[in-house]
Amino acid sequence: MAKKIKTIAVLTSGGDAPGMNAAIRAVVRTALSNDMEVIGVRRGYNGLINDDTFNMNIRSVSEIIHRGGTILHTARCDEFREMPGILRAKSTCEENGIDAVVVIGGDGSYRGALDLSSVGVPCIGIPGTIDNDIACTDYTIGYDTAMNTAVEMVDKLRDTAQAHDRCSVVEVMGRHAGFLALNTGLAVGALTTLIPEIPFDVERDVVEKMRFTQRTGKKHFIIIVAEGCDDVNEISKEIERISGVETRTTILGHVQRGGSPTLRDRVMASRMGYHAVHILTEGIVNRVVASKNQEIIDIDIKEALSMTKTIDKTLIDVSNAISL
Ligand code: F6P
Repeated sequence: MAKKIKTIAVLTSGGDAPGMNAAIRAVVRTALSNDMEVIGVRRGYNGLINDDTFNMNIRSVSEIIHRGGTILHTARCDEFREMPGILRAKSTCEENGIDAVVVIGGDGSYRGALDLSSVGVPCIGIPGTIDNDIACTDYTIGYDTAMNTAVEMVDKLRDTAQAHDRCSVVEVMGRHAGFLALNTGLAVGALTTLIPEIPFDVERDVVEKMRFTQRTGKKHFIIIVAEGCDDVNEISKEIERISGVETRTTILGHVQRGGSPTLRDRVMASRMGYHAVHILTEGIVNRVVASKNQEIIDIDIKEALSMTKTIDKTLIDVSNAISL
């Protein structure tokens, strides 16, 4: 029979995402309600390697459900990519009586959880990244807030683009994936959205569309570019050169990672954090929590990491049909 899990650790890893705090809160409170002890780990896997840990209680997570960032701090940890780092993390777990570790982060953090589980430390992953690029889940914590932030920013850019009859080219985050960009583009009424998953040609896919809409009187343009595409400044220059329309470039950058989480992120974080601990109470380990068709489920970590996620092409069809 699996060993009863009495003490868990919780950490956040990789890029922060709005809603991570709500997930920490859910993990801590669900665990304490189930008579588990909870240890907070600072700065992701670094905290496990260097034993930067502290005991958490019900009040440790007060007043955080509405806050962006992560009270545990986060980091990307190169040392944890090598076996000596992984074994030091294992020692910290043994010294602190940690029976399982809950990791909130993206797929890089899941790979860390897989490595830790392979040396005998049970782990559970919770998807936290603004990119929504984790294949096994429909949703990752932070995605909704980041999209809403991007929409708010592009709406402001639209005002000034309209006032000057300009083309506004806006880069949104997403690392190698276009999920964030595609939805943002649709929501802001962008003329076109360029994403790394679909090859594009600036003249054919941007300027031709500008010319077409100019014939019906359109004078300003919003173009969304996912950060995983080519250099956005070069794309802007090419648009200006070929179209002759004055163009400005904005890189939204880390503003998309901050701010108070939306209702959706708070609810998803709470449900996923609860689920993570709930399966631990049943002795189920080495899983990642996921959302599938509105349900919260869990999947084997290794299997989750072998899955791939594709862009929803219908979003492109919708955008092409109405961005005129
Ligand atoms: O994964 C989240 C993310 O914000 C990506 O969209 C982006 O490419 C990356 O992190 C930026 O990372 P950093 O915080 O290291 O600049």
